Amino acid sequence: MAWVMEQTTLAPEAVPDNGNRFLVGNGYMGVRGTLDEHGADELAAVNLAGIYDRVGDGWREPLNAPNPLHTVVRVDGAALSGGVPKSHVQRLDFRHGIASRGTVWGTPHGPVKVESRRFAHLAQPHILASRYTVTAGQGVELELFADIDRDIWEIYGPHYSEIQFRQEGDTLLCLAEVQNGKDLVAVGRRCVLSCGAERIAGEGSFTYRFAAGSSPATLTSVCAVYTTADTSDPLAAVRAELEKAGDWEGLSVSHETAWEAVWARGAVEIGGDPDAQDQMNYSLYHLNSIAPRHRGDLSIPARGLSGQTYKGAVFWDSEMFILDYFLYTQPEVARSMVRYRIETLPGALEKAESYGWQGAFYAWESQEGGFDACSDYNVTDVFTKRPMRTFFKDKQVHISAAVARAVMFYTETTGDVSLLVEGGARTVLECARFYHSLLVRRATAGRWEIHDVIGPDEYHERVNNNAYTNRMALETFRWAVEAARIWEREDKAGYTAFLLKEGGEGLLAQIKQAAVTLYVPQPGENGVIPQFDGYFDLEDVPVDEVRGRLLDPREYWGGAYGVASHTQVLKQADVVTMMEMFHQDYTPEVMERNWNYYEPRTEHGSSLSACMYALLACRFGRAGLAYPFFLKSAQADWLGGGKQWAGLVYIGGTHPAAAGGAWKVLAEGFAGLNCTGEAPVVRPCLPAGWNGLRFHFCCRGKWYLAELTPDRGTVTPVE
Ligand code: IFM
Repeated sequence: MAWVMEQTTLAPEAVPDNGNRFLVGNGYMGVRGTLDEHGADELAAVNLAGIYDRVGDGWREPLNAPNPLHTVVRVDGAALSGGVPKSHVQRLDFRHGIASRGTVWGTPHGPVKVESRRFAHLAQPHILASRYTVTAGQGVELELFADIDRDIWEIYGPHYSEIQFRQEGDTLLCLAEVQNGKDLVAVGRRCVLSCGAERIAGEGSFTYRFAAGSSPATLTSVCAVYTTADTSDPLAAVRAELEKAGDWEGLSVSHETAWEAVWARGAVEIGGDPDAQDQMNYSLYHLNSIAPRHRGDLSIPARGLSGQTYKGAVFWDSEMFILDYFLYTQPEVARSMVRYRIETLPGALEKAESYGWQGAFYAWESQEGGFDACSDYNVTDVFTKRPMRTFFKDKQVHISAAVARAVMFYTETTGDVSLLVEGGARTVLECARFYHSLLVRRATAGRWEIHDVIGPDEYHERVNNNAYTNRMALETFRWAVEAARIWEREDKAGYTAFLLKEGGEGLLAQIKQAAVTLYVPQPGENGVIPQFDGYFDLEDVPVDEVRGRLLDPREYWGGAYGVASHTQVLKQADVVTMMEMFHQDYTPEVMERNWNYYEPRTEHGSSLSACMYALLACRFGRAGLAYPFFLKSAQADWLGGGKQWAGLVYIGGTHPAAAGGAWKVLAEGFAGLNCTGEAPVVRPCLPAGWNGLRFHFCCRGKWYLAELTPDRGTVTPVE
């Protein structure tokens, strides 16, 4: 199996995608896969998890650290970067999280070759390491410039009011003060050059001057990053980390060992389709590179750690698309993701209250503390350049149900009730209280409804009775009843205190009633469920015709004047996501009818869409129909491209939800993995050409190996 991603272009338009493709990360930081010589113009970034800053009225976004891997070689004073090299290759060994490149530049003194390797240590999250090797004709005068780069790519910066540098022996140190007056980011880089050279220390830099010898010259850098989110004295922590870090060889071995441990239980094997296997494991590489392992209360942002896009915020992507992979293969990561939501419950309670509702309304774009980073004007109109009022934050109420699902799914799959007792049950009950407070009683119909929402399809704003939202709210009522039952069983005192102090007793009666009176749109005569009230009255027009109405390719399709708003064209799977979640409620015929109705009307404008179509197709037994949608999800970062703009807002980056969604298709769709019964089961629905499928999973604390052929599936316990 290859486990290698490779690209040979250095064309400027390929650089942003390659920054995503060759990213190395460890959950603490993500280092974009730009070249050692690159800076802000090429979107180079060392993106930090869980630490944010807001400049003026700009959007609050995560910090990028000054880049300690920045290295440039100069010949005759001219930097070897930019322009067209004689040859270039960039590689990612995604089995071991090592990005490398080799570039040969033509110079007046003959070819000069630059090679480098870098990794973000998987088990020592503050450590980055790189090796930069230069090969030139003997005697060629070279200058190697190594610094901690202050040329930082920021979307809504500048986030640093002051950056101080110092040098201690072979180590460059940098302390950056965040303009909020509260946070500090410290970075260190210990440099060792393999040959003799004159070393000139500059501000945060070393310049090495030497004549090329008979063997290549290698600069080895071991770097460390700390912030005030980790410790009150990040600079001291950087010094201490570098002190104990050891050398490149030792770090390489422990880093690779950590990755092998991940793959021992976290990789997949697909017989008969090596490309799909590589693409799937590459997607899992990206998930593992951003998995929060260093703290027990972080989740995963929608663009991972690939930059400040989407404000480094956590969306429903985490609970509905990404969680399952970790739940089944690294439950401790899933636990951190769920704890993030439990810890941010106060923010969700506050948000609901600010709208005059009750319970927990989770942030649509959640940052630390549950702060909702979603702005009232989340899209900029391409024609007028004016901000457009959008209602994502106010109306995507389905987010709270995703949180409730995560708590309950974690509890059921791991069998670990501790999270439920430690705030999880309260979280689910507050989500149920929220939906209860939204209910509208329709006297003439004798039912309760939910009005004025946005479902997963963001092109249709402020609709009534969105099928996905209503069904998820209904399930939240059921989850709340179940959560209360377990809470009472496990911790009667805590549960009783909730009933007394938080009005829990009345709440339980209310949600039990809501669970039977809430209206959920049902299939009509044609077997199709309306996405929301009045959906079928909208103009029924092909996606391409709607696309043809765009005056600018970056135009936003939704909102008041969007080309899709007044049509049945939807952005992403909506009813289909609902059916996939609750597939046991529907016959295969009804699922297929809805699939056939909605797919041709779906723009798939979100990378979250394809995997839901693939999953539902598996639920009605059509692996062949599912396969291209599975591939689309598994290839989201492999192929790159994707949607780069929403109006004038840049939305490029990696796609963790597509990666997680692809794994869901593989495990829950093609393999039919189901852990809800007494023992886990699989049921093959493999695409043509797949003669086998193998993966490990963990269910209620026990590990299993799933092995499938086209007509047989087995689950074997493993140690
Ligand atoms: O959460 C998604 C949403 O469903 C569609 N727009 C992008 C968000 C982040 O991935």
